[in-house]
Amino acid sequence: MSRIVYVNGDYLPESEAKVSVFDRGFLMADAVYEVTSVLGGKLVDFDGHTTRLRRSLSELDMPSPATDEDLLAIHRELVARNGIEDGMVYLQVTRGAPSERDFAYPDASVPPTLVLFTQAKPGLADSPLARTGMAVISIPDQRWARRDIKTVQLLYPSMGKMMAKAQGADDAWMIEDGVVTEGTSNNAYIVKGDTIVTRDLGPHILAGITRAAVLRFAAESQMKVEERPFTLDEALAADEAFITSATTFVMPVVRIDGRDLGAGRPGPVAIRLREIYIEESRRAAI
Ligand code: PDD
Repeated sequence: MSRIVYVNGDYLPESEAKVSVFDRGFLMADAVYEVTSVLGGKLVDFDGHTTRLRRSLSELDMPSPATDEDLLAIHRELVARNGIEDGMVYLQVTRGAPSERDFAYPDASVPPTLVLFTQAKPGLADSPLARTGMAVISIPDQRWARRDIKTVQLLYPSMGKMMAKAQGADDAWMIEDGVVTEGTSNNAYIVKGDTIVTRDLGPHILAGITRAAVLRFAAESQMKVEERPFTLDEALAADEAFITSATTFVMPVVRIDGRDLGAGRPGPVAIRLREIYIEESRRAAI
């Protein structure tokens, strides 16, 4: 069945959805995006994603394509039209399609491009990987320096996933100045004793919406959290580790660079936080 996608005001079969070859998203990666998960037909953490979208747009002086109310209506319409029970909605805003390729931003008469589509992921909250845990490798962080802006410049993260795959792993953790920044498309955490450690926010990582929720739930459950840089050696000596993102929720990490963490099985902190996150997200989804 062909999907219905949204392009600049129209709901279209995917084969009819088109964007100009002069679009700056295509030519210059001049575009930002959000991924919102859908559980039970409802949007998880929608407000968090629109707030971060606003910030990405503002950091890049990119015009806003729609109000938050309109964005919510479009998300819901796409979920309904595509019959999504579990899955995600991808949203991308670009600086539009001026008539010529030019490094300088176009003037305000060029409207931004707004595209949204859905991906169905039946059983999203019941991933088999959550039961076994995932393996990561470490790679140097060679991305640009403004990772707090959620741009579509995803070539290095894609290369990182391929490097992981080539080594039989599931993902890569990126290292800069001797410390772990984050996963290729997720935030990274280790647990030592009773303390959860994750990188502090700043330009070097994306402020994950799942991260914010998970740290809130951890604090509410009286778990100790330290937001600070941690080294690869610290990670290798950790009792457990996990990642978070809108599409993986809380996912245990059981192996780093081929070495098992603890017993090489998902740890109790990651398992508990995953349960809480999924339960709370289902409850609060809109
Ligand atoms: N990725 N760090 C990076 C580099 C990411 O790309 C993502 C999200 C996150 C986690 O953010 P959040 O919890 O808001 O999803 C952290 C999305 C899922 C993606 O690119 O598909």
